[in-house]
Amino acid sequence: MPYTDDTKASASRAQAETFPLDSILCGESLDLLQKLPAGVADLVLTSPPYFHQRDYGPGIGNEATQEEYIATLLKVFGECLRILKRTGSLVFNIGDKYERQSLLLVPYRFAIAALTQFPVRLVNNITWVKLNPTPRHFQRRLVSSSEPFFHFVVSNKYQYFPGDFLRQPSLPRSRRRGRGIGHRYFQLIEASTLTAEQKAKARSALEAAIAEVQKGVISDFRMKIRGLHSVPFGGREGGRNIRLERDGFTIIRMHGERLKRDVIESPVESLKGCPHRAVFPEALAKEFIRLLTHPGDVVVDPFLGSGTTAVAAKKLGRHYLGIDINPDYCVYARDRVSRATRQTPLLDAGAW
Ligand SMILES: C[S@@+](CC[C@H](N)C(=O)[O-])C[C@H]1O[C@@H](n2cnc3c(N)ncnc32)[C@H](O)[C@@H]1O
Repeated sequence: MPYTDDTKASASRAQAETFPLDSILCGESLDLLQKLPAGVADLVLTSPPYFHQRDYGPGIGNEATQEEYIATLLKVFGECLRILKRTGSLVFNIGDKYERQSLLLVPYRFAIAALTQFPVRLVNNITWVKLNPTPRHFQRRLVSSSEPFFHFVVSNKYQYFPGDFLRQPSLPRSRRRGRGIGHRYFQLIEASTLTAEQKAKARSALEAAIAEVQKGVISDFRMKIRGLHSVPFGGREGGRNIRLERDGFTIIRMHGERLKRDVIESPVESLKGCPHRAVFPEALAKEFIRLLTHPGDVVVDPFLGSGTTAVAAKKLGRHYLGIDINPDYCVYARDRVSRATRQTPLLDAGAW
């Protein structure tokens, strides 16, 4: 049946009878997930407790070995898969751990085990680059500042709305206005071994490209100057090589959107008065919710912590279900979610 808002709304109403929509349940995620009906969630977005990383009290992460930890997590993963629609996605964020000065590669062992045990595909391994990592100084290793988010699906019919995903940060003001665009190329033209005539042609071609960026005709460009830049590679670039040889320069124009990359750069957040020490950024949760769901869809987080996934879902007009074993976190999350309000679509688009 083709998708319409009406079919979606009636599906949501039907679910509401059996599925605790828009609630936060306190308890063991495996037990509670097992009580949920199959095929109800559009997105499971979660960050389980990392192996031996923090003390959340009783719960996952305290297993004696990483093998046990992964086995426990895979049981939860299996239940998440069961409650997922065929068009849904699972996004798991897991951090790594050092033991005896060696990384254990826990996230990747988990991802490999999930791919081995379940009929899932790994669409992307998205790297969250923390812009403000904990400033711990190590003598003989670099500061860890990234974590993976694994995006799994069960079929190639998964919902996917990449429109706004990973918008690049806005350009510096001078560049947006056009001042400074391509400026360095003027200097390079002068410094090159091009003839006076070629230099004049290069300058006017450069001015034309700059004007096109300023008018929004193209999004960006690169200039290659003979003797200064590497020769472009074959294919369509064949003509460029001829121009580079003949004119002494070539301009590569870039049209349309920037490429959407599998890297998210975002600072670690800390919420005032929050009892939870490992909150993931709301902006990051919103990116995944926008990418993989439609308004009215159902987003589940079986390790809700401070409530970030539910807050992001509510603000974006999605239904949510959160689970956490820690009663204090549940109280905090319920209060945090109750204070969140639906954003206007205009604000949704500008949140990153
Ligand atoms: C990494 S934190 C999640 C943080 C969350 N993404 C946020 O932004 O606040 C993992 C959470 O899992 C919870 N937890 C641990 N074991 C659990 C279990 N067996 N069932 C449900 N929740 C569990 C912990 O209490 C903790 O809040």
